[in-house]
Amino acid sequence: MAGPTPPQPWQVWGYLIYWVVAEEMHILNLAVHPQQRRRGIARCLLSTAMSQARELGAQVAWLEVRPSNTQALALYRSFGFKKVGTRPRYYDDTQEDALLLAYYWEEGDDSDQ
Ligand SMILES: CC(C)(COP(=O)(O)OP(=O)(O)OC[C@H]1O[C@@H](n2cnc3c(N)ncnc32)[C@H](O)[C@@H]1OP(=O)(O)O)[C@@H](O)C(=O)NCCC(=O)NCCS
Repeated sequence: MAGPTPPQPWQVWGYLIYWVVAEEMHILNLAVHPQQRRRGIARCLLSTAMSQARELGAQVAWLEVRPSNTQALALYRSFGFKKVGTRPRYYDDTQEDALLLAYYWEEGDDSDQ
């Protein structure tokens, strides 16, 4: 049966960068190779990173996203992220505002998405 071409050792299909400081997770960047999208890679990366951050003691996760980025917004909303504010002219290239999204873990909420 034919399936997706397996990645070569030198191919990066996606990455997520985050840090955890003082019970706060900050998601700095997330991207998936254009030819490998809609296969659940971002969902897997985000789920893994949030589980790791929770184990490190995170109580809240923050991220910034462009209002025009409907794909990323759909992903984050499906994880339960909510808009909590905006950062005016956050993006240098377009002077676009950023939406500030947050996810607050609740007690006993350690399940994967
Ligand atoms: C946003 C991005 C990371 C999603 O990566 P992906 O691996 O294709 O996402 P997944 O396959 O894991 O999809 C997870 C969910 O994201 C949303 N989503 C992803 N692509 C979408 C699209 N083209 N249209 C609508 N929703 C989309 C959906 O809710 C999807 O869930 P579903 O497949 O059950 O409907 C990817 O499009 C990307 O790298 N974009 C450019 C970089 C970027 O914008 N990064 C985010 C910066 S904040």
